[in-house]
Amino acid sequence: MPSPTNSLHLVILAAGKGTRMKSQRPKVLHRLAGRTLIDHVLASASTLSPETITVVVGHQADQLRAALAPRPDVRLVVQEPQLGTGHALLMVEPVLETCSGTVVLLSGDVPLLRADTLRALVSHHRETGAALTVLTATLEDAAGYGRIVREGGRIVRIVEHRDASDEERRLTEFNSGIYAMDLAPLFDALRSIATSNSQGEYYLPDLVTIYRDRGLRVETVSVDSATEVRGVNSQAELAGMAALVRERRAVELMESGVTVVDPATLYADMDVEVGPDTVLHPFVTLEGRTRIGAGCEIRSGVRIKDTVIGDEVLVRDHSVVDSSSVADGALIGPFSHIRPDTEVGEQAHIGNFVELKKTKLGKGSKANHLAYLGDATIGTGVNVGAGTITCNYDGKKKHQTIIGDGAFIGSDTQLIAPVKVGEGAYVAAGSSITSDVPPKALAIARARQVNKDGWADGKE
Ligand code: UD1
Ligand code: CA
Repeated sequence: MPSPTNSLHLVILAAGKGTRMKSQRPKVLHRLAGRTLIDHVLASASTLSPETITVVVGHQADQLRAALAPRPDVRLVVQEPQLGTGHALLMVEPVLETCSGTVVLLSGDVPLLRADTLRALVSHHRETGAALTVLTATLEDAAGYGRIVREGGRIVRIVEHRDASDEERRLTEFNSGIYAMDLAPLFDALRSIATSNSQGEYYLPDLVTIYRDRGLRVETVSVDSATEVRGVNSQAELAGMAALVRERRAVELMESGVTVVDPATLYADMDVEVGPDTVLHPFVTLEGRTRIGAGCEIRSGVRIKDTVIGDEVLVRDHSVVDSSSVADGALIGPFSHIRPDTEVGEQAHIGNFVELKKTKLGKGSKANHLAYLGDATIGTGVNVGAGTITCNYDGKKKHQTIIGDGAFIGSDTQLIAPVKVGEGAYVAAGSSITSDVPPKALAIARARQVNKDGWADGKE
């Protein structure tokens, strides 16, 4: 059934080799501020509520297919071999031939495009009744980009940098590679694109000339900031863009009431949230879906990934927290390592050189120095002494350690799992605990001390 003429279809080109990245990974799967380039594009494009989203893949298609598997709304079309951008769009014909309306064409390697810009492009396109609207920007030196050639103010063609004359190379207005297109004349026109250029490719921008020759209207919309339409073509460009995003994120966080001591060294991914009055010290890295509450202090050199942190939490210098949760008022570090699936309770303390993995630490419990707690469930108000180790691995399997509320684990204890320490029980320092300790009991599991009186006197 034909779709209504005001319907919108997104096509994202991502089949190219990305040769200049010199990488085994497809270009659009490189990460920028915690999201892949293609996810950036999908995120801003999805706000247009398109009827369909199609991604053209080719080079390393399998990796892209796997990466886009969580997006069942995204259709993939394979372009093989990759004969140019005009050829890439033609590959979409089978999935869009029964549709009508507008196609918005995006490049998978242009990640900073704002949704507002896309909306402006689409409305201008529709209001003018154009067959093609090209999104353009200007740069003093637009080397590498296709240049917009105008006559009497109107666009007449786009010339690729490699094919341009010296005079054309001085043009500052360039093609962003982003377009709005009317579906009706599109595929027929794409078929008449030739390969008479320096690369022998089917150049999509040739549509400009084809449409003009056919008396169809071609429009342009300019973006103010060329940054927004910058493409990533090399590792250096990726790093340059990451620096821009980083700066933008730091400003956003400060505008929402976060104190950023040194914005230049804050690395906060796109999806990270931080509450007001939290202080972020220099060289803090906040990754993935990390959420930090209000009034926290995150000291220097801390890395927090995919973790939810409550309010008034202090994470001291050089701690790593990964895929875990930390409740209000907890205190972590310096030099703590919180590994995945750990829950640190309210007001709990994790001190220096303490490693936690798949461990639940109850409210107000403390492990302040040099401990390894793995596969453990630890109640409230427990004191875990320095040097305590849960021996959770027998060489084949992992086993659980359970410590009841209010228990006291003396320093240098080994808890050989599976094992339970009851509520309010005590374990003497230096114990190797191999069997359960009943509630309120004192367990001593170490060699008895022998004092040999006067032993040193007889030595010599
Ligand atoms: C393209 C434009 C240029 C514009 C620039 C903006 C052409 C011929 N030139 O140049 O006018 O200034 O973008 O960034 O279109 N792709 C495919 N299949 C192919 C070739 C490319 O899917 O056969 C994809 C790429 O993966 C990429 C996008 O199309 O996502 C653009 O291709 P790229 O080779 O980067 O074009 P540019 O040389 O940057
Ligand atoms: Ca490009």
